[in-house]
Amino acid sequence: MARLNLGVLVSGGGSNLQSILDKSASGALDADVRLVLSNKPNAYGLERARLAGVPTACLEHASCPSREEYDREMVRLLEEHAVDTVAMAGFMRMVTPVFLDAFHSRVLNIHPSLLPSFPGVRGQGDAAAYGVRLSGCTVHFVDEHMDNGPIIIQAAVPAMADDDTKTLGSRILEMEHRVYPQALQWLAEERLTIQGRQVVVQEARPAASPAGTTVTGALVNPGLENGF
Ligand code: GRF
Repeated sequence: MARLNLGVLVSGGGSNLQSILDKSASGALDADVRLVLSNKPNAYGLERARLAGVPTACLEHASCPSREEYDREMVRLLEEHAVDTVAMAGFMRMVTPVFLDAFHSRVLNIHPSLLPSFPGVRGQGDAAAYGVRLSGCTVHFVDEHMDNGPIIIQAAVPAMADDDTKTLGSRILEMEHRVYPQALQWLAEERLTIQGRQVVVQEARPAASPAGTTVTGALVNPGLENGF
């Protein structure tokens, strides 16, 4: 099994980064976070990285004339830290093929809705306003389109009539913190195969992974394994 050399991209609070750091520290996730990169100098995610002793970098939009230049510079920084896998964790920018070609099929993202419903930057609020009865989160491989690549894992949580961005968002976030490290661990264990839009998760060896398990009132598919 390979250990991931992770680069984590953040723009904000970095609670998903924290869950990745915590699961790496506990040994559940076979990953070393090599670099936390932000496009916002005041992102609290950078502070979380510093507290964990992880190198940080900030690359502001204004510093690069084009999206491709920006992505080239990100790739340079990530490669300088020997990163082989990238986790976008609340990173509010889309990446170009320049970036995706450098980390082929090794760029993941988490989105706070059950994709393909409610893509974009207001996933939780849009779902609450629409009046859905279930929402959740999605971890997917990243392609050049927004919130679009093949889906690895989803968790569904109830949505209530009086939910707003905050209440629904925090219910979703709780599951984000569990499914994202799990998806990364499957990648570390080389158990993910992309077949068109389908991602096949190979069974654990020797223990079998339960399909579609229910945890703390959420339906998670494929099921979470021990440690997540
Ligand atoms: C999460 O809801 C994530 O799904 C979305 O942005 C938010 C980031 O939160 N892409 P945090 O910075 O990880 O706390």
